[in-house]
Amino acid sequence: MDNNMMVSVRNLKKYFGDVKAVDGISFDVKKGEVFGLLGPNGAGKTTTIKLLLGLLEPNDGEITVIGMNPEKEEVEIKRRVGYVSEEPLIFKSLTPKDLFSFIASIRQLDEEEVSAKAQEYMDSLGASDYYEQLIATLSHGNKQKVQIIAAILHDPDLLILDEPLAGLDAKSVKVVKEILDIHIENGGSVLFSTHIMEIAQQLCNRIGIINKGKMVGIGTIEELRQQANKLGANLEDVFLRLTEQDTSVIEIVQKLRKSFKNGK
Ligand SMILES: Nc1ncnc2c1ncn2[C@@H]1O[C@H](COP(=O)(O)OP(=O)(O)OP(=O)(O)O)[C@@H](O)[C@H]1O
Ligand SMILES: [Mg+2]
Repeated sequence: MDNNMMVSVRNLKKYFGDVKAVDGISFDVKKGEVFGLLGPNGAGKTTTIKLLLGLLEPNDGEITVIGMNPEKEEVEIKRRVGYVSEEPLIFKSLTPKDLFSFIASIRQLDEEEVSAKAQEYMDSLGASDYYEQLIATLSHGNKQKVQIIAAILHDPDLLILDEPLAGLDAKSVKVVKEILDIHIENGGSVLFSTHIMEIAQQLCNRIGIINKGKMVGIGTIEELRQQANKLGANLEDVFLRLTEQDTSVIEIVQKLRKSFKNGK
């Protein structure tokens, strides 16, 4: 295998009945890279991520994650990957402290080291007050912080994050960005999905734009601009063009303005 390839996806397909959630996408995430998946609601980002982790079985196509097949080596992949899911944490009846110690035990990590590290992360994310509170009672953003910490405690080679910054306050977004930077500086790689253009633009080396289960653009911002025929444009305009939403937004806004005026 190519040691520089953390994720390799070829012609991946996943159908739910008639819904082609993922319809033949291909992309790679190289070592040391931050790769962003961008796409409208329902585009197939979460489905793609779940396929990479072996949480769903594909209908067709090939996936390699750190040289492994998720269908066959799900456990080893989980050992090398840190995952932040889209849904809130499932361990609601635990406190963050219990959760981190549980993670240390199942991942066979040094309990004291993990505890010190986790407390430092909780502190840096302004969540140390919640260390011993039930996760069920935490706010959405604080649950998200616990989930991010839980994903990085074992120093994974690859972080796969499904909208990691959704619901975080400005300072926490900054700290999480720093955490991702440190992860990259230490030889890690990142694949994450987001709706936030600014974040994608700031953090990603390359971006894949998914629309209706298909990859409609892939590359650096500059390459995406070329693919969209929009040189010099910002990522939002490039995104709307590639996902064929640019004209519909203008029409929707015009309609809204008209009906608002008529209603007055
Ligand atoms: N378990 C499922 N059963 C049936 N359909 C599903 C299932 N999971 C996803 N889908 C459908 O697959 C498509 C892709 O969904 P997915 O969750 O991957 O989108 P997404 O890009 O993550 O969207 P969002 O930005 O809203 O999170 C959608 O049409 C969704 O309704
Ligand atoms: Mg999703």
